[in-house]
Amino acid sequence: MRVRKAVFPVGGLGTRFLPATKALPKEMLPIVDKPLIQYAVEEAHAAGIEEFIFVTGRGKTAIEDHFDYSYELEDLLSSRNKIEALEALRAVVPGAGQVAYTRQQEPLGLGHAVWCARNLVGDEPFAVLLADDLIMSEKPCLQQMVEAAGETGGNMVAVMDVPREHTSRYGILDVGSDDGRLAEVRGLVEKPEPAAAPSTLSVIGRYILTPEVFDHLGKKHLGAGGEIQLTDAMAKMVGSGPFHGLRFEGTRFDCGDKLGFLQATIAFGMARDDLRTGLGDYLSKIVKDL
Ligand code: G1P
Repeated sequence: MRVRKAVFPVGGLGTRFLPATKALPKEMLPIVDKPLIQYAVEEAHAAGIEEFIFVTGRGKTAIEDHFDYSYELEDLLSSRNKIEALEALRAVVPGAGQVAYTRQQEPLGLGHAVWCARNLVGDEPFAVLLADDLIMSEKPCLQQMVEAAGETGGNMVAVMDVPREHTSRYGILDVGSDDGRLAEVRGLVEKPEPAAAPSTLSVIGRYILTPEVFDHLGKKHLGAGGEIQLTDAMAKMVGSGPFHGLRFEGTRFDCGDKLGFLQATIAFGMARDDLRTGLGDYLSKIVKDL
């Protein structure tokens, strides 16, 4: 199975980060010095993705500009001989024709956003990455999934165990056979209350999906929160082919949440050679003063 295309739903309003996201797409918020969306695109690239499909919305043009050449900036950097910065800037830009944008015209849910990409994806398996979920790992999470899906075939979601009181924030798996790494998906429920959750194994924003998902999304069935849910369309595919949850190796940060965002900033800052000492000294100082 070859996964060549990835869909990035980036139409969300980012209300949890207002006022920062009033004029700035939430996916452009930086962790250290890189926007969230760039982490996701780099992860996809590392997993062999060749076509990057963004489902955007109003007020998201900064994302298009980010993945484009910036003539003025490049000219300035090269005239000042800032070669390293110039190379870093160029590395962000996918090749000509490898990026496509389409708009989700109404905020009808994640499932609807993915459905908006159906003509760009066509009839082949594809990945979906939610930039809010930032994963720090040795091997990029999507690459782990592409390799695992190479063995299993079919659909795959990244999963992790969460405390039972948090099940209402996630898509939750009903688990069949489970070898501790790969869990067979027997059902899926979007954001169940803890008492109703079939397990505590939660979907994290990385998916490898077969194109049949578009048939189910096209029915525009409204689910949790009155939205067209990707989880519901995936649930309809259970039983029609292999479907697994992969417990990926790595640490996931929920950057759609303020605390998760701050934790990611610290973790990614501490992983940087140029920041570790300064940030570490500061952290130990404020911890001592607590
Ligand atoms: C979405 C999905 C949910 C998934 C989550 C992962 O929810 O609908 O199934 O578990 O992403 O982050 P959202 O966070 O957009 O509400």
